[in-house]
Amino acid sequence: MHQFQGRHIIDTADLTTEEVMFLIETADRIEAMGPAARDLCKGKILATLFWEPSTRTRLSFEAAMYRLGGNVIGFSEAMSSSVSKGETLADTIQTVALYSDIIAMRHPGEGSALAASMSSRVPIINGGDGAHLHPTQTLGDCYTLIMEKGRLKGLKVGFLGDLLFGRTVHTLVRLLARFGVELHFFAPEGLNIPDYVRDSLVKAGATFTEQTELDARLPELDVLYVTRIQKERFFSEEEYLRKKNSYSITRETLEKAKDDILILHPLPRNEEIAMEVDPTPNAGYFRQAEYGLKMRMALISLCLGVLS
Ligand code: NCD
Repeated sequence: MHQFQGRHIIDTADLTTEEVMFLIETADRIEAMGPAARDLCKGKILATLFWEPSTRTRLSFEAAMYRLGGNVIGFSEAMSSSVSKGETLADTIQTVALYSDIIAMRHPGEGSALAASMSSRVPIINGGDGAHLHPTQTLGDCYTLIMEKGRLKGLKVGFLGDLLFGRTVHTLVRLLARFGVELHFFAPEGLNIPDYVRDSLVKAGATFTEQTELDARLPELDVLYVTRIQKERFFSEEEYLRKKNSYSITRETLEKAKDDILILHPLPRNEEIAMEVDPTPNAGYFRQAEYGLKMRMALISLCLGVLS
């Protein structure tokens, strides 16, 4: 029996591997329920508090709640909230917890979701804290891998892009390592995975490699997870421009890869995946966004205790 009711979802490291599998099963269960899922959260309120820009994550939380029959309140820009009047995070959370049954939040401060959970009497779901963690994206990505590849153990997954600032990768690789996935990192010079991520992979006994070029290893990969350069976390425009466009996935790239290589991307994309890739069966990124929505429905239902 897994206990999710009333629980905060801050970091996937807080979840056991059995709990991760249970979340995936629950997402699948919701998918199978079809229209019957529409009443699960009737009368419940989700607050989405987004101090940082987001389209997918916020809208998919909101769509998830509406699809479960619940209601949504919140803000998507700090300037439209009392934060612009100098309110602290703790005060905002404590108040919003009086108006809602569950809170999904995104904030630029690393550790902000954990801090918020200490002032909240309702479950907090971390929708991204700075360059640190993005657990709901990771859980949706794991669900995607299982649905598309049928397994995690032994999969060879490449990560290409800004691995220094990309929080989706930081969270995902540490979870995949626990499931025996082989990890291969491809990053432009200076954008390698941060030391704390590397250290935790070493500590976990993960199999991983690091390089700048994709070509030599591409033919072995089952999955390639591409990310954009995280412009907003760069210190200077020149530095960003130097790194931008240093990699791009095209149909030519696919020709050098396994026939069934799965291309994933947390989105939004810039130019790192050419649009000509979209019609190929290898392009999994829009299906990935759909799996993410189902996973958020599972998380909301379990944390509210309407499913167990
Ligand atoms: C990612 C994020 O916000 O970290 N997007 C998302 O949640 N779907 C990736 C990104 O912004 O590049």
